Amino acid sequence: MKADEPTSIPRDVPFDHYAENPGGGPHESSSCPVIKTIGVLTGGGDCPGLNAVIRAVERAGIKYHFVTLGIRNGWQGLIDGDVEPLTDFSVSGILPKGGTILGTSRTNPLKKTSDFQKIKANIKKFGIHALIIIGGDGTLSAARDVAKHGIPVVGIPKTIDNDISGTDMTFGFDTAVSTVTEAIDRLHTTAESHHRIIVVEVMGRNVGWIAVTAGIAGGADEILIPEVHFTMDQVCKRLKDRYDAGKKFSIVVIAEGAHEKDLGLSSVPENERDECGHEKFVGVGNILGKELERRLGIETRVTILGHVQRGGSPTAYDRVLATRFGVAAVQLVHASDFGKMVALQGNRITSIPLESAVNQLKTVDNDFYELAMTVIGGRK
Ligand code: F6P
Repeated sequence: MKADEPTSIPRDVPFDHYAENPGGGPHESSSCPVIKTIGVLTGGGDCPGLNAVIRAVERAGIKYHFVTLGIRNGWQGLIDGDVEPLTDFSVSGILPKGGTILGTSRTNPLKKTSDFQKIKANIKKFGIHALIIIGGDGTLSAARDVAKHGIPVVGIPKTIDNDISGTDMTFGFDTAVSTVTEAIDRLHTTAESHHRIIVVEVMGRNVGWIAVTAGIAGGADEILIPEVHFTMDQVCKRLKDRYDAGKKFSIVVIAEGAHEKDLGLSSVPENERDECGHEKFVGVGNILGKELERRLGIETRVTILGHVQRGGSPTAYDRVLATRFGVAAVQLVHASDFGKMVALQGNRITSIPLESAVNQLKTVDNDFYELAMTVIGGRK
């Protein structure tokens, strides 16, 4: 539904409520509770679990007498007024599906003043009382900025990168780690058979959570991440030691954001960035693979897992986490507790100010990296 089309009536809302207030605004009668409209959008890179959280928002909304308006394609949908009412019926069956039924984009809502004016006009037009913004650091930073302009916003952290501060975990991460672990298992058998080094490049942007976690789970022989400085000399020595100890194959996991300087790459030019200012990575795995083969004389192959890590059905863990986040976000809206992001701390769902979630990346802590290094075999 575009901005110039008439607002349709969501299925589960008594018609009287909408008829009294076609924009979907708040209204109360003696017999019925207040009905308010929540707008929900998914922004940034997709990840498994987005549909589970959309479903949870809509279902929890029913409990609190909210109607839920799905905004298509991230912030872009709010600029264009491209929305669809979500209903109990329309979110049925989406729980196990990867991606997002709403579509996504990396649009920055505050880049152009005219876009932000359109956003404000559409919030009014559709009678949206609160926005639930599901995104990673780029989308949630925009949510924080939009909140500063007085728009009621609640954030939900999603990303396979697991790099959002204040939450122990983002949904999507567990599924990505499972995908990478399965890939490492498969690569192990072929690396061992051919006595090769196989370099596996994984996503994660500027942090190494996927690399370290899947590296531990898959028994990687070397793990290179942005948080830990390394040199080619060190890496070659460690792999050579392993080879000399009788392990004639190695699996090297490298995070896409591992320092290019360590491999003799120049830094990424300014124009190689997306709209949110994120670097586009240049394939550090290929450079590492070539350099290892040149220096060690061991046949080397490279696998770049790429977007396969973002696809597919969410794990049970991600489905449950996404559901908990979705319900908690609706509860924050119900309590008019805005400018917050839902978070997992220990096994508790809590909330923190959006500001503290996005002002710095959550990087891999040293103890976790050390744990991974401790269990690598064949080292002297
Ligand atoms: O933030 C999620 C992520 O998958 C990163 O791990 C990766 O660097 C980036 O998105 C890729 O973005 P795009 O889908 O725009 O190529």
